[in-house]
Amino acid sequence: MKYNVEDCEIVELPIVHTESGNITVMENQLTLSFDIKRIYYLYDVPMNAERGGHAHYELQQYVVAASGSFTFILDDGKNKKEFFLNHPNKALHIKAGIWREMKNFSSGSICLVLASLEYSEKDYIRNYTDFLNFRNRK
Ligand code: TYD
Repeated sequence: MKYNVEDCEIVELPIVHTESGNITVMENQLTLSFDIKRIYYLYDVPMNAERGGHAHYELQQYVVAASGSFTFILDDGKNKKEFFLNHPNKALHIKAGIWREMKNFSSGSICLVLASLEYSEKDYIRNYTDFLNFRNRK
């Protein structure tokens, strides 16, 4: 099954409001559509940096702006869609087989990623022509 950018969406996570601040929870089986195997986060990203430039064969992710804001551009080989993440209760669900670019990181932003699989370089497609060939394969 190959997913399209229309299958990727921003999920609004519930917020537990308390007088001393908010809590948002992401929990396997409850909030998330896959079980988390790995968590990583990007930080100290220079404001003019552009990251990403790859797709994954199998990996799915939820991406959250734990602090600050940034933009993800998703691409399924036919269509592109931009997502602006600027609040810790919004999680972008990126399905498998989608090319992504990231830009416009605000100063001090933290990009938290919850991933469905352990790190494997074999799961990456880092060349855009290879990506289009993969998308056009049946
Ligand atoms: P990459 O996924 O290409 O970064 P981004 O999409 O944020 O631009 O990863 C950058 C480098 O970090 C690459 O050399 C692989 C390494 N890395 C790991 O070793 N483990 C991981 O879990 C991740 C996400 C990256």
